[in-house]
Amino acid sequence: MENWTRRKFFVTTLAGSMAAGARKLFAGIRANDNGAHSTHPQRLPGLQTAAAAKATRPVIISSANGLRALERGMEILRKGGDTLDAVVAVVTVVEDDPNDNSVGYGGLPNEDGEVELDASVMHGPTRRAGAVASLRYIKNPAQVARLVLERTNHVMLVGPGALRFAEAQGFERMNLLTEKSRLAWLAWKASTAENWAPGLDSPAWKERVAGLLDPKLPEEERLALSEWLREVVAHPPTGTIPCLAVNEKGDISGTTTTSGLAWKIAGRVGDSPIIGAGLCVDNDVGAAGSTGRGEENIKVSGGHTIVEMMRKGMSPTEACLEALRRVARNYNGDQTRLSKFHLLYYALNKAGAHGAASLWSAERNGRPLTYAVHDGTAARLVECAWLLEGRGG
Ligand code: GLY
Repeated sequence: MENWTRRKFFVTTLAGSMAAGARKLFAGIRANDNGAHSTHPQRLPGLQTAAAAKATRPVIISSANGLRALERGMEILRKGGDTLDAVVAVVTVVEDDPNDNSVGYGGLPNEDGEVELDASVMHGPTRRAGAVASLRYIKNPAQVARLVLERTNHVMLVGPGALRFAEAQGFERMNLLTEKSRLAWLAWKASTAENWAPGLDSPAWKERVAGLLDPKLPEEERLALSEWLREVVAHPPTGTIPCLAVNEKGDISGTTTTSGLAWKIAGRVGDSPIIGAGLCVDNDVGAAGSTGRGEENIKVSGGHTIVEMMRKGMSPTEACLEALRRVARNYNGDQTRLSKFHLLYYALNKAGAHGAASLWSAERNGRPLTYAVHDGTAARLVECAWLLEGRGG
């Protein structure tokens, strides 16, 4: 009897949450009919919607963290350069930046304190791909992925093999762990392993994170740093940068590069180096890339799904939303579980139309999600469409 009651309760609850999820999903789908959601919880001044942005060539897009670097890619496209040169040039700027903790030098490390990088590239005109995964000590994995594409007959190299290949190609080893990332790793260790936190007898016992910080830091910096440490420890980021470009002729290339999920198990590979998940380019159709929880994207082959949806005539934004619907479907629309992660897709078609969509309408801090676009005038941020209203991540 008890079993029956429990099962009945479970089935009723599941049916109820599926129905509620489906209603919410359906609401999201209808609201996005024009390719971009029309209402936004907190619109940023000066932001454009993807629907308002006209198709034009050349054009280059990336996740929002590439905004300041897009001009470099556009310069190459304007001069008639190759689209792969353009996208790799953009992400190299971000990989080199110690202040971007999501990629390259300064990326957040794995659980052993080692920075492990993943990247992929695709060149539309020659229909080739290259990727590296779990690459240590080399700050520009997108460039290494490009050499896998150009100088081998393989598509992906991983771990020590990828490192040996990179060194053979002339890349130099360096310590990728910046002081800030090292502190964040220590803060995470202190939060998860008793032995790595100040003991009961320490004055820093109550404020374990504060105990890691240099007491000589000015108060304001200390506060900002400890706030950030708490954030990345409680919510391990999966920041990444995809960059996609189409030139005047309609040739397309893309790259996605990342340090992956912070505090991951050594050897964990996300979606960024997986062709058809974190990146997909088809020179006849367009390109797609992603940021956010890679595991969820891999399960729906998001990049490939988006390109195929565009092939069938969907706009880039609609195609991104369709991939997100499949992710939500994997959880029967259960918003409690879906709220544990964020996922964003970015897409560009051969005509130069672009779009992006996020699983949730806002980041956990309430800020709306955006992506970066340069279509010849200036690089700017454009609002993402979204599937579910609320904060995720
Ligand atoms: N999207 C980056 C990762 O999950 O590794």
